[in-house]
Amino acid sequence: MKILIIGSGGREHALAWKLSQEAEVLAAPGNPGIAELAQCFEIASNDFAGLEALCNREKPDLVVIGPEDPLIAGLADRIRGLGVPVFGPGRDGAALEGSKALSKELMVEAGIRTAAHQTFLEPETALYYSLQRIQEVGGVAVKASGAALGKGVVLCRTADEAEDAIQMMMVDQELGPAGATVVVEDLLVGFEFSLLSLCNGKEFWSLPVAQDYKRALDGDRGPNTGGMGTYSPVPAVSPALVAQTEADVVGPTLHALRARGIDYRGVLFTGLMVQGGQPYLLEYNVRFGDPETQSILQRMGPGLGAALVACALGEPIPEVPVLDQAAVTVVAASRGYPGAYRKGVPLSLPPAGDGVTIFQAGTNSVEGQLVTAGGRVLGVGAIGTDLAEARTRAYAWLEAADLEGLYFRRDIAAPETLA
Ligand SMILES: Nc1ncnc2c1ncn2[C@@H]1O[C@H](COP(=O)(O)OP(=O)(O)O)[C@@H](O)[C@H]1O
Ligand SMILES: [Mg+2]
Repeated sequence: MKILIIGSGGREHALAWKLSQEAEVLAAPGNPGIAELAQCFEIASNDFAGLEALCNREKPDLVVIGPEDPLIAGLADRIRGLGVPVFGPGRDGAALEGSKALSKELMVEAGIRTAAHQTFLEPETALYYSLQRIQEVGGVAVKASGAALGKGVVLCRTADEAEDAIQMMMVDQELGPAGATVVVEDLLVGFEFSLLSLCNGKEFWSLPVAQDYKRALDGDRGPNTGGMGTYSPVPAVSPALVAQTEADVVGPTLHALRARGIDYRGVLFTGLMVQGGQPYLLEYNVRFGDPETQSILQRMGPGLGAALVACALGEPIPEVPVLDQAAVTVVAASRGYPGAYRKGVPLSLPPAGDGVTIFQAGTNSVEGQLVTAGGRVLGVGAIGTDLAEARTRAYAWLEAADLEGLYFRRDIAAPETLA
């Protein structure tokens, strides 16, 4: 079996690592870590013509699309049009992530529990509604409808905050077209988790749950990032909560998508807030999470490739065994991230010890020298018999590696952070 992975981050490295245990893996464009496992082609994930030509030449049995941008722009449809099976939704399904306004519409249509909300095209009406809700329930989330790289949600508890957020998105248009339409919803209070389900259009199979850490610094301080670490399993998310989420959220979503004629084949990522013991759906993503995937895949037994192919073909999804082990991933990021940071800092990675796997993200190879090339540089993964052992292994590697110019959180999967 030959699998082409599209993308170049830590998520794609984890996919290449897992899938190369059972298939020949190609990647476009990949990164230096992926290149140790797969043949890489220098074709960007937004170069649809180049990717089509690559598929015609290499005839992969499966294409797995990692990032959301090419999915939202319709890459899965283009490659399916060539007769190549694709794991990843088409443009219609990917709109669940590309448009929060549309995703909210679908949630209501499907009868899914979610924060009360309204969608606005005019700043005046958005503000009027926000002020009303702040009085009534104490706060709102102001959300740019379009994809805004994690910068499109502002939580507001005062009139001033709501006014600033609406001014920034709708009047000053700081997020570009992503902020032209805004969803305002009631603030929920609770703990968050996400569930990733593999879908074949009709049925789904959920991956083990992983918890992520979004803030840059220990103790959940500092700015929001793309994610500074993950662990799995998550003691706070019981099997009953997962089953309830599947029954109340994932199943109804697939059903509503089908009712709209959307054949959703890929990961359905549901972001949830548990309030009063009930899961409320905050958002959909349409791809594997990064860095959730790095922890999740470390816990998977053999057969992921076959499951992804089955999803791509709309066939019954074979269950993939989940190892009775815990996994932790600690992200090492460029000092300064998510603000400005230096690139091109040389990296030398000591060998990964027992149970440790290093996933590369923002790296590049310049004349044979590995250097930093992005904000999140590495995901240091480790498995163990429990979270404590996995965590000890990941941090032992990081301490020994003493990476110049990088920082990492020291409390990933620490007991006091487990919800
Ligand atoms: N209704 C809400 N109540 C409380 N917090 C929210 C609400 N909506 C979003 N958030 C917070 O904002 C974060 C980002 O919102 P989300 O809808 O996931 O957008 P995105 O990931 O696209 O930026 C969530 O992870 C959550 O912490
Ligand atoms: Mg989110």
